[in-house]
Amino acid sequence: MKKFISVHDVTDINALAAKALAYKTNPLMDKQLGENKRIGLLFLNPSLRTRLSTQIAAKNLGMEAIVFNVDKEGWMLEFEEGAIMSGNTVEHIKDAAPILGQYFDILCIRTFPSLKNREDDYSEMYINQFIKYAGVPVVSLESATLHPLQSLTDIVTIKESMQNSPLGLPAEKEGAGGKPKVVLTWAPHIKPLPQCVANSFAQWINAWGEADFVITHPQDYELSEEFTKGATITHDQDAALKDADFVYVKNWSTFNDYGKVYENDPEWMLTEEKLKATNNAKVMHCLPVRRNVELSDEVLDSDHSLVTRQAGNRVWAAQAVLSEILKQHPPTP
Ligand code: CP
Repeated sequence: MKKFISVHDVTDINALAAKALAYKTNPLMDKQLGENKRIGLLFLNPSLRTRLSTQIAAKNLGMEAIVFNVDKEGWMLEFEEGAIMSGNTVEHIKDAAPILGQYFDILCIRTFPSLKNREDDYSEMYINQFIKYAGVPVVSLESATLHPLQSLTDIVTIKESMQNSPLGLPAEKEGAGGKPKVVLTWAPHIKPLPQCVANSFAQWINAWGEADFVITHPQDYELSEEFTKGATITHDQDAALKDADFVYVKNWSTFNDYGKVYENDPEWMLTEEKLKATNNAKVMHCLPVRRNVELSDEVLDSDHSLVTRQAGNRVWAAQAVLSEILKQHPPTP
């Protein structure tokens, strides 16, 4: 693996998920793989899980990890080619990235979308400029449109949950190859959020191909077809939830009329009552979550909730990805 930006960088999702679960059983089995290697974690936006889980994963592989909060501690970067830098930006990515490439063996970047200009956000200029100029493998810690480490974790968590407790799939699902029904449902939120987690979850579940995948959201909240193609899409949340085995809850802002909040109907919040229509579904969320806005306390604090296990699995997913990259760059003798 030379970079990790989307599902397209992965040749075998199941093998990568199995690797993650193997690390969960034996975290230090490859503790020499990253010896004498250094990883840089650059944050242009806040994070709790991604920052800490990736640091722990790197440490488990014997790497030194350095975190740099570019948004607070660094010079303001310019990403536009040919920019006349007479405004607020101080340093061009063309100058900064090659230096970072000398300091680090792997460079990890978190950057959010502006939610103002769809074309700019969906061009993924920030992370692509790092890839272009750093000269070392780049890992996305969430970009303008995708969150691949989260999505790999989500598949790891679904697979683990299916292994640990057979889902008792109804007979009609046996005919469909025993695939679990996985539902991605929009949830209310008080402010416009990126589409990254939803885009990425859709992209990975579609590529994985081992789920009966349904997306439900209010009208006007369509995601880009680039990611959702292959899923069943409905505006009827109750119908979507029927017989679901996994329910992934997430808010996102509008894609077509970009970055808006059209709808904040509390009826879309996932509650214990709504879960009655499911196949005793497990509930997932990437976190952070707005309690009693996106998801009720009763669901989050119940046995339905996988969110803590899911967040814990971020370590193993990150470790699997970093180990794949390190294998291309073995330790210096
Ligand atoms: N899910 C997730 O990416 O969490 P953080 O924003 O805290 O890293």
